[in-house]
Amino acid sequence: MEQKLEAIKKDALASIASAGSVEALDEIRVRVLGRKGELTGILRTLGELPPEQRNIAGKKSNEIKRAIEEAIDSKTSSLQAESFSGLATSEWIDVTLDPPVSVREKKLGYLHPISKTQREIEDILTSMGFQILDGPEAETEYYNFEALNIPKFHPARDMQDTFWTEDGNLLRTHTSAIQIRGMEHMTPPFRIMAPGRVFRYEATDASHEHTFYQVEGMMVDKEISVSHLIYVMEEVLSGVFRHHVKVRLRPGYFPFVEPGFELDFSCLICDGKGCRVCKQTGWIEFLGCGLVHPNVLRAGGIDPDQWTGFAFGMGLNRLIMMQAGINDIRHFMSGDIRFVQQF
Ligand code: PHE
Repeated sequence: MEQKLEAIKKDALASIASAGSVEALDEIRVRVLGRKGELTGILRTLGELPPEQRNIAGKKSNEIKRAIEEAIDSKTSSLQAESFSGLATSEWIDVTLDPPVSVREKKLGYLHPISKTQREIEDILTSMGFQILDGPEAETEYYNFEALNIPKFHPARDMQDTFWTEDGNLLRTHTSAIQIRGMEHMTPPFRIMAPGRVFRYEATDASHEHTFYQVEGMMVDKEISVSHLIYVMEEVLSGVFRHHVKVRLRPGYFPFVEPGFELDFSCLICDGKGCRVCKQTGWIEFLGCGLVHPNVLRAGGIDPDQWTGFAFGMGLNRLIMMQAGINDIRHFMSGDIRFVQQF
C-alpha cells in the first residue's frame, strides 16, 4: 500500500512540475484527486485494511493529498504569473498614438450580442401584443420566491442558489419576479414580457455564469391553453433564428406553473436529424414554461376561477451561444471588445 502511495505521489509531482498550462494541471488534479482519481480510489479501499494499518495508510494518504494539492496550487500561481507578464508585452497599446482616420471612422461602438437579441425578441413579442415591463435587479424575497408559490424552506429554493443581501433581500434569480409586479399593475386580459439580468450564486465554468440574461413572458386571458404557449414559442424562436423551428414539451417542475414544462426546439444545425450539437437527439433543451399556477395568479390579485395564463422564461446567453457557436458563457461578461466586435 505504502509503495503504491509513494508511486502515485512521485508520478503526480513529476507531472505537475512538467505541466505547461493551467488546463494540464486541472487534468492532473482530476486524474489523481478527482472523484474517480487514483488516490481517491485508494482512499476508498482503506476500509478493508486492519485498523492499525488503516491508520497509518490513512495518515500517509492525507499527507500525499496535501502535498499534491500544494504542488498544484503553487505551480498554478507561477504559470498564471508567467502568462500575465507575457500579456503585458504582447498586448500593450500606446494610448498616446493618434489613430489613422480609417480606424477612427470604424470605431463607432457596437451593440452587445445580448442587447441585439433582446431587441429582436422584444420586436417579435410586441408585434404579438406583448408589453415590455422592467423590474428591479435587487428584489425582495416576496417577489422572487413567496409570491411565486415557493415558500420559505421549500426545497425548490435550492434549485436557484441565491445572492442574499445583509438586510434579507436578494439579487433576483430569475425574471419571474416581474410576473407578480406586472400582475399587480395590470387588469386581464394582458400579455407582458420582461427582459433582464439575473444572478445565481454559482461557481462559474464554460456553461455557468453568476450573471446572465433572461426574457420572461406571460399571457393572461380566458381559457389559455398549452397550444397558445406552443404557438408563441414557435413564433419567437422562428423569428430569432429566421428559420422555421419546431418545439416540443417535456414535463418539468417549476412551483409557479402547473402543468410545468421543459421546452426543446428542433436542432438548427441538423434540422432535427441528429448531430454533435444536439447530441444526436435532434432537439435542443431550451426553456422552462407552463400554465400559471392558481396561487401565483392569486398573489398577483387575479381570480384564478376567471382567468388563466401561460408563462415562460428563456435564457438569452444560451440562445446566442447556440446561434453563434460560442463555447464559453464567460465571454459575455468579459468586457473584451474583440468578442463584441464579432457580432
Ligand atoms: N423562472 C424559471 C427559471 O429561471 C423559468 C420559468 C419561467 C419556468 C416561467 C416556468 C415559467 O428557471
